[in-house]
Amino acid sequence: MNTNAKESLVMTGLAVGFFGLAGAFALTLWAKPLEPVVNPPTPPDFTNTATVRQSPAEIYRTEGDTSGFSCYSCHDAKKKLEIHLDTNGEAILAEPHKDLVMRHGRKNRNDYCFNCHDAKNLEQLRVNEGQTFKLTEGNRLCGSCHGPTYRDWERGVHGRMQGFWDLSRGASAKSDCTSCHDPHAPSFPPIKPGPRPHALHPEPAAGETPKHTP
Ligand code: HEC
Ligand code: HEC
Ligand code: HEC
Ligand code: HEC
Repeated sequence: MNTNAKESLVMTGLAVGFFGLAGAFALTLWAKPLEPVVNPPTPPDFTNTATVRQSPAEIYRTEGDTSGFSCYSCHDAKKKLEIHLDTNGEAILAEPHKDLVMRHGRKNRNDYCFNCHDAKNLEQLRVNEGQTFKLTEGNRLCGSCHGPTYRDWERGVHGRMQGFWDLSRGASAKSDCTSCHDPHAPSFPPIKPGPRPHALHPEPAAGETPKHTP
């Protein structure tokens, strides 16, 4: 075989090889179809905009169960109510009130019932200055001791606002202090963090170290 014949044989071989490869690429013979990443839906408790509890004003508005606010269905208005304190100065709760968790402030500084409830009329609230409020006016009770937070709340800085920023488009509304805080134990338990953003790449299996993408 002379050199020319050898050369054209090699060239033909190469050409056939490359055509074969081109065909294989065109038909995507080795490609695996992409598995679509299916993201689980966000749990509904993270998208729920309801407050964690309902204030008396809200319970009345939504016609919920208000029987607990009728103190004189059990108490006698003519009888002076005594609060019995234990050795730590904490009220010993009567059987019907055992469900209350009393923990207001570090060292339970504000647990004394008559700091907030009016001893002369249990169905209303009272503040140190002697002013009284309805049970549905709890915000003013809280504001009497938590002035700076109350001012922040009035301006919409503390406590989540609902509705519109642009008041020409609709009203905005504030939630009551006791729609978020339990007046008897107002600090929040640790809040579960929201879910992280959805991953673009498949999740590593349990125990596998995630691979870095360049
Ligand atoms: C289901 C019945 C019932 C209802 C409703 C009720 N109480 Fe009482 N409460 C009692 C009993 C029983 C006692 C025991 C002492 C007593 O009556 O002298 C008590 C005691 C108390 C005490 C003293 C602390 C303690 O636990 O012993 C306070 C303060 C008090 N109640 C406030 C209220 C207020 C405020 C309301 C309404 C918002 C209310 N109660 C509604 C039954 C009730
Ligand atoms: C008589 C005064 C008084 C009233 C009324 C009052 N608080 Fe407090 N609050 C306190 C004191 C005192 C503390 C403890 C501050 C500390 O320990 O540094 C406190 C602490 C708190 C805290 C911090 C968490 C904690 O338990 O330490 C929150 C939240 C709170 N109050 C919310 C409220 C809400 C909501 C109301 C209305 C239902 C309210 N407070 C009414 C006196 C009051
Ligand atoms: C920091 C203020 C504050 C103190 C202190 C306080 N309360 Fe209350 N309490 C409230 C407010 C405000 C409500 C209105 C209901 C709500 O927002 O849950 C209320 C509601 C109640 C109710 C109605 C039903 C319920 O379960 O909420 C009872 C009963 C009651 N308190 C008893 C007591 C007793 C007994 C004590 C003392 C051991 C006490 N409270 C101390 C502010 C206070
Ligand atoms: C929409 C819910 C919401 C409303 C409404 C709300 N708060 Fe709070 N508040 C919170 C949360 C959440 C925290 C932070 C709790 C934590 O870090 O433990 C907080 C913290 C506080 C604290 C602790 C000290 C501080 O400023 O960080 C006080 C006191 C307080 N709130 C009082 C009030 C009073 C008074 C009102 C009503 C005038 C009110 N809050 C209304 C959710 C609310």
